[in-house]
Amino acid sequence: MSLPLQGKVALVTGAAKRLGRAVALRLAEEGADVAVHYRTSQPEAQDAVKEIEKLGKRAVAFGADLGSVDEIKRLIDQAGKHFGRLDILVNSAANFLPASMVSTTEEIWDAALDTNLRAPFFCAQAAAPWLRRAQGVIINFADTGGLLGWTGYIPHSVSKAGVIMLTKVLAKALAPEVRVNAIAPGTITMAGDPPEWEADYIKLAPLRRSGQPSDITDSVLFLVRSKFITGHVLMVDGGRTL
Ligand SMILES: NC(=O)c1ccc[n+]([C@@H]2O[C@H](COP(=O)([O-])OP(=O)(O)OC[C@H]3O[C@@H](n4cnc5c(N)ncnc54)[C@H](OP(=O)(O)O)[C@@H]3O)[C@@H](O)[C@H]2O)c1
Repeated sequence: MSLPLQGKVALVTGAAKRLGRAVALRLAEEGADVAVHYRTSQPEAQDAVKEIEKLGKRAVAFGADLGSVDEIKRLIDQAGKHFGRLDILVNSAANFLPASMVSTTEEIWDAALDTNLRAPFFCAQAAAPWLRRAQGVIINFADTGGLLGWTGYIPHSVSKAGVIMLTKVLAKALAPEVRVNAIAPGTITMAGDPPEWEADYIKLAPLRRSGQPSDITDSVLFLVRSKFITGHVLMVDGGRTL
């Protein structure tokens, strides 16, 4: 039986660990071959490649600092040429830098905006010729902080608000060939996160729980397969932003 994403190629940024890795594995389970991007986590990226290969899919790991537009161009070129096509770009890599009104520095501001907002744009720009040919799709990662405005994470919130507009403007700029959507997760419980993140979230979210990686991978799959949806930001937050 042919899988839904059989013959498709995905590039997932920040895919060595955590949500990016979960998305990469889920896309492979659905039949896609996957380019696993990492910056520092090479061993974990190689491990993700092995996991994907165990599913019978092709996978390769590529390193790049997404703070550099030259490295972004090289990454997309490597992934496209390795597989000969690119159907799905998932911009998951990000940082999460605490920075208040007082503690925000020029360095923190630039690091947040460069990785979380500038990089998804230049990944999309570099991938656009491949994605247009494949009638492909981009999934960006926003954040509830991009709507709620967290005073302890000012550059982060601004970067993720930017991802929401980036998603809309890219959806118009790349239509009709390429669809562009975003997911705005609430707190997703991951091994190693401080337990108070989950406890705080349970108090704030109407659904009284934090998210699981499967909540995110289900949403990515939904947006990849929804052929009449573009420019949409899907809140996957248990109602936190209501
Ligand atoms: N987890 C949550 O609860 C949650 C909630 C809301 C939104 N989100 C969003 O969902 C996405 C995935 O979340 P996550 O928690 O899995 O992310 P994460 O663990 O914070 O980051 C994912 C990866 O991003 C890569 N990265 C960071 N800076 C980079 C740079 N300059 N160049 C290249 N790669 C860089 C790192 O790769 P290396 O390890 O290889 O260096 C890291 O492993 C993010 O966009 C995040 O903002 C997550």
